[in-house]
Amino acid sequence: MEKHTNPWWREEVGYILYPESFKDGNNDGIGDLPGLISKLDYLKNLGVGMVWICPIFSSPMEDNGYDVSDYYAINPRFGTMEDLKTLLEEAHKRGIKIILDFVLNHTSKEHPWFQKALKEKDSEERKYYLIRKGKWIDGKLYPPSNWGSFFTPSCWERIGDSDEYYFHSFGTSMPDVDWTNPNLRKKYVEIADFYISLGVDGFRLDAVAHLAKDMSFEDSSLPDEDGDGFVLDPSKFSNRPELLSYLKEFREEAIRGRNVCLIGEVGGSIQPSEGVTFANRHHGPLDLLFNFDTVWNNGNFGSIGKKDEEIVTNVMQLKHNFTRWYDACHKECDMPLYWCNHDHPRVLGQYGSREYRKESAKALCLTLLFLYGTPFFYQGEELAMDNLVEGSIADFAQDVGTKDSILAYRKAGYTDEEILSFLRRSARINARSIFSWENAPYGGFSSVAPILPQGKDYLEGYDAHTEELDPYSVLNFYKMAIQIRKQKYYNDLVLDSQLEWVDWNHQDVIAYLHRGYQTIMVVTNMRPYQVYFTFNFQIADILLHNYDGVLLNNHVLTLRPFESFLFVVK
Ligand code: BGC
Repeated sequence: MEKHTNPWWREEVGYILYPESFKDGNNDGIGDLPGLISKLDYLKNLGVGMVWICPIFSSPMEDNGYDVSDYYAINPRFGTMEDLKTLLEEAHKRGIKIILDFVLNHTSKEHPWFQKALKEKDSEERKYYLIRKGKWIDGKLYPPSNWGSFFTPSCWERIGDSDEYYFHSFGTSMPDVDWTNPNLRKKYVEIADFYISLGVDGFRLDAVAHLAKDMSFEDSSLPDEDGDGFVLDPSKFSNRPELLSYLKEFREEAIRGRNVCLIGEVGGSIQPSEGVTFANRHHGPLDLLFNFDTVWNNGNFGSIGKKDEEIVTNVMQLKHNFTRWYDACHKECDMPLYWCNHDHPRVLGQYGSREYRKESAKALCLTLLFLYGTPFFYQGEELAMDNLVEGSIADFAQDVGTKDSILAYRKAGYTDEEILSFLRRSARINARSIFSWENAPYGGFSSVAPILPQGKDYLEGYDAHTEELDPYSVLNFYKMAIQIRKQKYYNDLVLDSQLEWVDWNHQDVIAYLHRGYQTIMVVTNMRPYQVYFTFNFQIADILLHNYDGVLLNNHVLTLRPFESFLFVVK
C-alpha cells in the first residue's frame, strides 16, 4: 500500500463545516455552497487549511444529508455540481483543502438502488442491502434478531406486509448496504474516484466503523435493560475484523497512491490499539481516525433527569483519554484532535462556561491546539457560540436522531421541562444552529428566517463581524493561536517531541509541555473558579494568555476561572 511520507494534513488546522447553517447564498433560509464560497476568505483569515464539509449529496434530508439518494448529484438545496467545482477552485486558490463527507454504510431509502431492491427480488441491487426474513413465533412475526439501532429500538424495518425486513443501524429511512458484496464495494470505489478526479482532497468516511456486520445475525446476549426487546450491541456491527480488509481494498482501488486524505469515523467502541491498525502511517488504510473518547467526559451523555449542576468536566478522565490515544498513536500514526462536531452539543456548553464565555472559549482553543495531532475546530467554536439555551421541543425534534428519543422520554414519564433541560445541554442540533455572522436580522446568515434553529449569539456580541473588530475577541485569539501552532518550529515540536504531562494528578488543571530548543508549556484551569498550581519553571516568555497579568507567588500560580497560558519555559 502506497502512503505519503510527509502528508499535508500534518501541517494543517482543520475546520468542520455544517453547510446547512453556515451561510445562505440565495436567501432561501438554507446554507449552501455559494454561501460557503463567499466566506472562504473568512476561513483563510482564521488560518484554516482544510475544511470537512458535512454531506452535500442529493438527499431527502431525513438525517440531514447522511441519507444519500444520489451520490453523483449535489443536493439542490446546497447548489450544483458546478458550485462544487467552483468551491474546489476557489478553496485551492486560497490554500484550503476540501474534505467531503462520504456515507458508505447506508443509503437513503429513496436511493434508486434501494427502490429497485424492493421492487425486483432478483435484481443486482437487492444484493446491495441486508434483507432477511423475520421469525414466526406462535403465529406472530418478529424481526430477524434482537439487535437495537442507534436511532430506533430495532435495527430491522419490516418491508410492507411481507415477512421480510431490511437492516438499518441508524434511522429507518437509512438502509445499510452489504459490504460483503464485491459489486457494491466497487460502486463506492467509483464514486470516490469521480470526486477525486474533480479535485476533492479527501473524504471523511461516515460511520465507517459499522461497514462489517456479524452476518449470522444471531441474537445478542446482552441484557435488554429497557425491556423493549432490543439491545444495542456494538460487537455485532462495529469495528469488526472484516472492516480492515474492506478499507484496505477501498484505499488501494479508490485512492491509488493519490495525495488524498482518508478520515474515518470509528466511534466510541474502539480501542486505541485497534485504531493504530486502521491509521498506521505505513500500512493503515486510513490516514486519520476520529474516536469519541474525549467528547463526553462530564456525564452529559444520556443524562436525562440530571440537573445542569451535576454535569461537571472530569478533567482526570479527559487527560487519561488524550493520553491513551497519544501513547498508542504518536509513533505509529497521525491523529485528529477535536472537542466536538455536528453530532455533539457545543463545546462551550460541554467543557466551557457561559459565565466565563470568552475566557473558557479561549482556554479550550489553546489547550487543544498544542496537543499531539491535527486539530479540527467545529464551526462557531471560534466565536464562542453557545447551545440553544432557549431551544424548544420543536427545535430539537427537527433532528431524526432526537425525535424518537423525545417520545421515549415522555413515555418513560419525564416532563417536557426535564426533557428540555437535557436536550439544551446535550442534543446535537445545538451545534447545527445558525452561524453568527453579524448583529443583523438572522445574524447575517440570510435575509429570510432560517429553517434551522438560531441561538442568540449575534445579539450578545458573539458574531464574526463584531469579533473581527475587537482585538481581544475569541475570534482574534483563535487566529493568533492558530498562527503560532502553524509556525514550522512549533508544529514540528508538537508533532515530533514527546508530550509530557505536568502535575498529572491535578484534578482541575490540564498542563503539558514539549521540550525542544525552546520548550513550550500549556497550563489551563478547566474550572469556573480559582485554583492553584505549583509552578517549578522559569517563565521565558508568554506566547498566549487569556487574562492580563500573571499571579505567581513563591512557585504557586493562582489560576483564575479558565485561565490558560502558552508559556515558553526554562
Ligand atoms: C454522522 C451522523 C449521522 C450518522 C448516520 C454519523 O456518525 O456524523 O450525523 O447521523 O453517522 O449517518
